[in-house]
Amino acid sequence: MNNIIQFYTKISKTYDLMNHVVYSERLSRKIIELAEIKEHNTVLDLACGTGWLSRRLEGRNVLIHGVDLTPFMLAKAKRRINGDFVLGVAEALPYRSESFDAILCNMAFSHFDYQAAAGEIYRTLKPKGRFVVTDSVDPNPGIYDALAYYPARSIVKLLWVLAGQPIDKTVRDNSKAFDLKSEKIRFALGEYMETKVELHYDLLGPASRLKSGCEIIHGIKR
Ligand SMILES: C[S@@+](CC[C@H](N)C(=O)[O-])C[C@H]1O[C@@H](n2cnc3c(N)ncnc32)[C@H](O)[C@@H]1O
Repeated sequence: MNNIIQFYTKISKTYDLMNHVVYSERLSRKIIELAEIKEHNTVLDLACGTGWLSRRLEGRNVLIHGVDLTPFMLAKAKRRINGDFVLGVAEALPYRSESFDAILCNMAFSHFDYQAAAGEIYRTLKPKGRFVVTDSVDPNPGIYDALAYYPARSIVKLLWVLAGQPIDKTVRDNSKAFDLKSEKIRFALGEYMETKVELHYDLLGPASRLKSGCEIIHGIKR
């Protein structure tokens, strides 16, 4: 976990800039819509980072909670958003059982111990509570894995597109390109809850050729 904290501490300064490039408003709307969030709901942004998703919950008259492992990321969320943001880990959530109407987790689950985190989501959701987990599907993981730093990945993606490679098509047509992590995440959650999966292809925003993929795993606690 220290590596993860070090990594996110290092990129916390540029993280929001990168978010503008990578995440689309359409993605956040989709996550919130799938979570069926209603007024007065208590919602957890799990591994909230700097609060990209929590921010989109503001103005909806919900109680916002956020938890994250990296103090520098969390501090930004705390400063900006009217909610309750605490330091903690997904594998041992600092909340009582059946606390949340909905738990959202954007682009973080692959860092977790899948079984432990899935169990904690299950424990802290109210009966019939909803969860939405997104995880990226890298179109060309071989190249991406060689690059640890997100901006570098984005540049490679841009070059890839400029070279005329249709990233979205690559993701759809080549089953090897699907990120196996997503399968494992689905499996871990499926042990506790019914899950559904959707693919979402506009991670890089409205410029349609600059598409990347993410899987949205969602469902309701039994
Ligand atoms: C790619 S960022 C996503 C942040 C945020 N969800 C967003 O949409 O911008 C991943 C976040 O997961 C957090 N994280 C990684 N492992 C964690 C764990 N085991 N428990 C809690 N947070 C964790 C990191 O500190 C980082 O802020």
